[in-house]
Amino acid sequence: MMHLGLSVTYALALVTSALAVPSQQLDARQQPFKSTAITSHAEPWAMAFLPDNRILVTERRGNLRLVDPATKSMATITGVPTVAYGGQGGLHDVALHPKYAENSIIYISYAEAGTGGAGGAVARATLTLNANGGGALSGLEVIWRHSQKASGGLQFACRLLFGPDGALWISSGEINQMTPAQSMTSNLGKMIKLYDNGTAFAGNPFASQGAIQAQIWSLGHRNPLGIDWDAQGRLWEVEMGPMGGDELNLIVPGANYGWPLVSEGRHYDGRTIPAHRTRPEFAAPKAFWVPVISPPA
Ligand SMILES: *[C@@H]1O[C@H](CO)[C@@H](O)[C@H](O)[C@H]1NC(C)=O
Repeated sequence: MMHLGLSVTYALALVTSALAVPSQQLDARQQPFKSTAITSHAEPWAMAFLPDNRILVTERRGNLRLVDPATKSMATITGVPTVAYGGQGGLHDVALHPKYAENSIIYISYAEAGTGGAGGAVARATLTLNANGGGALSGLEVIWRHSQKASGGLQFACRLLFGPDGALWISSGEINQMTPAQSMTSNLGKMIKLYDNGTAFAGNPFASQGAIQAQIWSLGHRNPLGIDWDAQGRLWEVEMGPMGGDELNLIVPGANYGWPLVSEGRHYDGRTIPAHRTRPEFAAPKAFWVPVISPPA
């Protein structure tokens, strides 16, 4: 996850063959796959595969690239809005609409500048590909925003994931504001479930309580940088904790994961935070790491 402001150029490597090697037979010098450098990118953050196996790649400064693994070539998709590049912010995730093959709609998330600093935004647009290996976004529409902006450029998260019911999930970070993760009138620090047009999904656990509340699937998250489904259709999330306490959470509707009231980590100034076991009303992580396993900023 290239979320920590590393100003390094990464090569996009594609796994070209997988070997069925039991993990206990591997050591640090061996990899169970062969990797091949295809293209080079400044601060790549996310990728999404088109039906023809080409790959949309976001670069944090605000460039959306289209990579063709067959020719090891890359071109640019124009029409990306200006992003607030700085701190951990910039152009973040990219995802295809579940019916992309029919409607050519893609979604991007990014940090957007505004009063008070920057906040996360999610937009959808039509992708028109051209004969030069690139393309353009048109009809761009912002369908969701963080309910406030903040200075510092931290903890936007905003991973995008579509569900089997066609819903759009957004993992909303708390942009380092902490207490809004517990506020039901803020969409910071939440798992958000929407229709593909940005309207709150019917049947969300707090649907009857107000407009922001209706977006919320779960709360009390800090910096949820990864979300995905498992083979049983359960939703999992990985979340950057403070100093210590990165979390793997099983996401269930209506649950409160406790940030910033509980954590297995500490604040960066050394202040302690009560552990999850002290407050059983908050959902505890299925796994956590102290010290954290993410790379330092
Ligand atoms: C968004 O999509 C949902 C589900 O298709 C629909 O019920 C709703 O009316 C749409 N909202 C807008 C503003 O178009």
